[in-house]
Amino acid sequence: MSTQNTLTPTAIQRLAVPLYAGVPSAKVRLMQEYRSHICPLHEVIHEVPPQSAVLDVGCGNGLLLNLLASLGRIRRGHGFDVAGPAVAVASQVASDHRLSSVVAFEHRTIEQGIPNLGHEVVTVVDVLHHVPDQHKAAFVASLCDVVPAGGRLIVKDMVVRPRWRAAANQMHDLVMARQWVEHVDSEQVEAWAVRSSMRVSRRDRFNTLWYGHWLLVLEKS
Ligand SMILES: C[S@@+](CC[C@H](N)C(=O)[O-])C[C@H]1O[C@@H](n2cnc3c(N)ncnc32)[C@H](O)[C@@H]1O
Repeated sequence: MSTQNTLTPTAIQRLAVPLYAGVPSAKVRLMQEYRSHICPLHEVIHEVPPQSAVLDVGCGNGLLLNLLASLGRIRRGHGFDVAGPAVAVASQVASDHRLSSVVAFEHRTIEQGIPNLGHEVVTVVDVLHHVPDQHKAAFVASLCDVVPAGGRLIVKDMVVRPRWRAAANQMHDLVMARQWVEHVDSEQVEAWAVRSSMRVSRRDRFNTLWYGHWLLVLEKS
């Protein structure tokens, strides 16, 4: 999209605060409220074409879809995640804010397969590094498979270079998810996606605090 991005991390935080205010866990509440300052969600939202249907893979607490729905940006959204409690939070927030007619959340794993529900946009934010290296290529291929012609795949993940930012990214997941994750370079993901008939419409990098991010927007013609 060539339009100017008017959303900012602070604007997203202002939307997230009332959305997640009713969540009992203070930790979950705070993580959603401040997430836009460590993860460039405004850049992801900017790449979602207005009134599209979006599948969010590894949706966590549903922040992206609940934001998109509350902004009136999408006509339909479906998110899934392996973490049952996070899916429960996502659904509760949607229900509390009368967004359930637009977005739905499912407890499901990537290993069960990517549901092909006809969404023209697939988003994958900070999930790829949780997938073991030996399964990453197949995962990317399965994401590309469910994107219809004319649709797009938006992938946001963490950089492998410079090394100090990669180390900061790694420490974040060690502390927050208690997992030693495996980051992958955007160029590798791009090469896998191109094999599945996708073309790159945007590749970008961002820094937030000590974290480094890459964004890939891929389209199927
Ligand atoms: C860093 S969080 C990102 C959550 C969300 N996309 C966001 O940006 O706020 C990574 C998410 O991937 C989910 N995840 C990891 N492995 C998964 C799997 N095998 N199947 C489904 N979800 C998975 C985790 O449960 C977690 O919610």
